[in-house]
Amino acid sequence: MRIYISVLEGRRLSFATPNPPILRHFQTNGAFQNGKMVFSGVNYVANETQLRERLTRLGQEHLLTFWGELDEAGRSRLSADIDSIDFEAFEKMRASSEDSADADSELLEVPESLPHTPSAGLESTYIEARTLGEKLLADGRVAAMTVAGGQATRLGLDAPKGTFPIGPISGKTLFQIFAEGILAANQRHGCNMPWYIMTSKSNHDETVSFFNKHNLFGLKQDDVIFFSQGFAPITDPEGRILLAEKDRIAFSPNGHGGSLLALAQNGMLDDMTRRGVDYISYFQVDNPLVNPADPVFIGLHALRQSEASSLTIGKASDDEKVGLFVSVAGKLRVVEYSDFPEELASQRTTEGTRKFDFANIAVHMLNRTFIERVVGQNHMSLPWHRAIKKVPHIDTQTRSPASEARQNAVKYEMFVFDALPLATKPLLLQTTRHERFSPVKNASGVDSAETARRDIIRRSAAWLEACGISIPRKADGQPDCTVEISPSFATDIASLREKAGTIRQISPGDTLLLE
Ligand code: UTP
Repeated sequence: MRIYISVLEGRRLSFATPNPPILRHFQTNGAFQNGKMVFSGVNYVANETQLRERLTRLGQEHLLTFWGELDEAGRSRLSADIDSIDFEAFEKMRASSEDSADADSELLEVPESLPHTPSAGLESTYIEARTLGEKLLADGRVAAMTVAGGQATRLGLDAPKGTFPIGPISGKTLFQIFAEGILAANQRHGCNMPWYIMTSKSNHDETVSFFNKHNLFGLKQDDVIFFSQGFAPITDPEGRILLAEKDRIAFSPNGHGGSLLALAQNGMLDDMTRRGVDYISYFQVDNPLVNPADPVFIGLHALRQSEASSLTIGKASDDEKVGLFVSVAGKLRVVEYSDFPEELASQRTTEGTRKFDFANIAVHMLNRTFIERVVGQNHMSLPWHRAIKKVPHIDTQTRSPASEARQNAVKYEMFVFDALPLATKPLLLQTTRHERFSPVKNASGVDSAETARRDIIRRSAAWLEACGISIPRKADGQPDCTVEISPSFATDIASLREKAGTIRQISPGDTLLLE
């Protein structure tokens, strides 16, 4: 909300609104600009009686438990938090939200997919796709998009996840690695690929200042666009909204599926239209092996006139915690690992391979017009999921921080892959884990910084070998050297081959950073 009021410089304002349903009075928190006081984020304190009546009607009166203890600033904060909630929409969301539940195994079928390496009959299609993908990039019709609004609780990082240093030698952050991939595509294809980065309220400012501190890693100011996703209140299992503090409501970002709505609501889709962007290369902030501008994937997506395409890999094990692509009544869908029937997870084909083996690595190509259609007139049609999490909050019954045992909270999230069944001609393209997927999710163990660094080294070593550079290896076959290829040097084997002549020999125990 922004209000312009002419006022003498230096004067404070305090006045009652003529008809104050909720707003009792404004406080000046604006800046004096060009003879006008500009209020951004107006402070106000609600009329307690009316607020209490309203919350009682909504079954949320406990939110005012500490009202009597709060000073004016605290009351203003709490009123603003309460007022930011559209309770009608919140109730609809809550009523429609789904708990994790096993999918019906009778309905799940193996989806169709294109192979990683084209079979003889597909070779010319893949060559045509590469040429088309390169042209679409050169013509500026492809944008990159990263969802970076998550809270990274498993990693336990007190900063945006993209700022996490992951380069095994360089220490480059996830954001820098993606930026270099985009810069490399810009140079190769002679374009300025716009990069849309979705943040959330709690990490937006830190993310933007991180990029500014690093001069946007050499990208143009106009081509790095930040936008923030929506939030949803966190509740207890009965739907009572939780208090994070006595004067603050507990909110959490509304899931990566919130990115589609956020693109529309923040004017990003209009921005894309203005720039002539038709295709969006979507990826998560946690996967350093992603290629933000993969001509073959982009080209196959466009060639097959798919509205939404996805990369997939085989599962690491039957119980890997990864969503799976399946076909249900002819529609491509993702079933979360928690909802995937156990008996199907271990099922084998007659050849002895895993039957349902199409893991979702959250790398998609999405048409801008598809997102416009899904979001409609800002009416999202993606389902809401309930996730039971431990969330520290103030227990309004004991009037003190909730004990571990009582931290039973419900977070509400949308998932971007729930949009896939709405797409026409969805396409699934196989790739390999080794080439494209090693997410940083956990502080240690599987899918951690340690495994991601290991996989960057393994992939770098394999690329070097493919270019005729010998890699010393240990008895177990792992590289006996530390090698890292930054995207600024090469983004695949073909681009590495062009520079192979400049690379020195590698001895056992060597460290080599190519950037
Ligand atoms: P995760 O599901 O791994 O969640 O997100 P997270 O929040 O990063 O980590 P945990 O679960 O708290 O440990 C997968 C991707 O989706 C983005 C994340 O930033 C990551 O790139 N995401 C997730 C959002 O952008 N917004 C969200 O609300 C949730």
